[in-house]
Amino acid sequence: MIILAIESSCDETAASVVKDGELVLSDVVRSQVEIHAKWGGVVPEIASRNHLVDTIPVVDQAIAEAGVTWEEIDAIAVTQGPGLVGALLVGLQVAKSLAFVHHKPLIPVHHLKGHLSAVALRSPTESQPATPSYPFLALVVSGGHTAIYRVNGFDEIKVISNTLDDAAGEAFDKVARMLGLGYPGGPVIERMAAGGDERKYRFTTPQIKASPLDFSFSGLKTAVLTCIKRHGSLPEGEALRDLLASFQAAAVEQLVDRCKSAIKQEGITRLSVSGGVSCNTLLRCRLTKLMNDLKGEAYIPPKRWCTDNAAMIGAAAAVQALRYMERGPHHRDDTLNAKSTWHIAEPPEIVGL
Ligand code: KG4
Ligand code: ZN
Repeated sequence: MIILAIESSCDETAASVVKDGELVLSDVVRSQVEIHAKWGGVVPEIASRNHLVDTIPVVDQAIAEAGVTWEEIDAIAVTQGPGLVGALLVGLQVAKSLAFVHHKPLIPVHHLKGHLSAVALRSPTESQPATPSYPFLALVVSGGHTAIYRVNGFDEIKVISNTLDDAAGEAFDKVARMLGLGYPGGPVIERMAAGGDERKYRFTTPQIKASPLDFSFSGLKTAVLTCIKRHGSLPEGEALRDLLASFQAAAVEQLVDRCKSAIKQEGITRLSVSGGVSCNTLLRCRLTKLMNDLKGEAYIPPKRWCTDNAAMIGAAAAVQALRYMERGPHHRDDTLNAKSTWHIAEPPEIVGL
């Protein structure tokens, strides 16, 4: 089955052609990062306007690079939410129009189920990756979400742990902004922390009595701010390197600590990791080590499929496809609307049947 997938939930305009939910025939991501960088974060209206300009060229490029014809495409998938509403509306409208014109079924996808499905993806030159069998635990760690799920099945997901304040990626972004390092913070902090002493500053992992598995990153952010104030000016050189290394290690330590507790609580030793922050090499190494120590398995997609992309939406759509296609080869819900918030445990609804 060949699916054309479109993703536009935040500041990446992406389209991909995916075969059988795993083989990525094309994967086009047009990032608006540089446009938003001067504002220090994503400006929703600017994101929507850029999606409006970029979506059709990105879809054209994805189809051309995959070398498929419209006849060969079996379905169109699109991110329905959660995300920035204006950004989602652009992707949805393009997907609906293409489904209408080409008489294709339209499959709406939950963005986080996309991140969860990224572990299945491979390029034509790669062999099929191992994927976790159900049930497994999933750490989704991005700019908008930091949570651990117990995945009993594609539509049977239980939230084990969530963030009480900032998402981990948001903490990286805010700390980078405090230090005038630009946006997004994660990649620049990782780069500039290289060679720094992660033990220079002792940032402790928060212990939350009422909900010990939940995350909290706002205290860490405030602790970094206190260090900057104490320093008297924005740190540079070795002082900056040490501060960033200590911050990064503390953020990673908290993520690893909560995964460890979730594994213990649920008695499951299969852990998938996805979302933009899972590009972080220290996090990848420490989680891989944790799972090795526990004689379990860590499933972490290649970095290109950790940040937002449409291939993961195609992978998630393939799992759902039968449910839509058995309603008729051209099943399309024209009332489909964007969901800016959408709980991952909410059962799927198929409207218009
Ligand atoms: O998944 P994603 O592309 O978009 C959302 O759905 O949020 O994640 C973006 C987030 C940003 O906060 C960015 O700073 C963070 O992922 N990020 C990283 C790294 N690369 C991206 N955080 C830490 N280390 C990285 N190497
Ligand atoms: Zn995302």
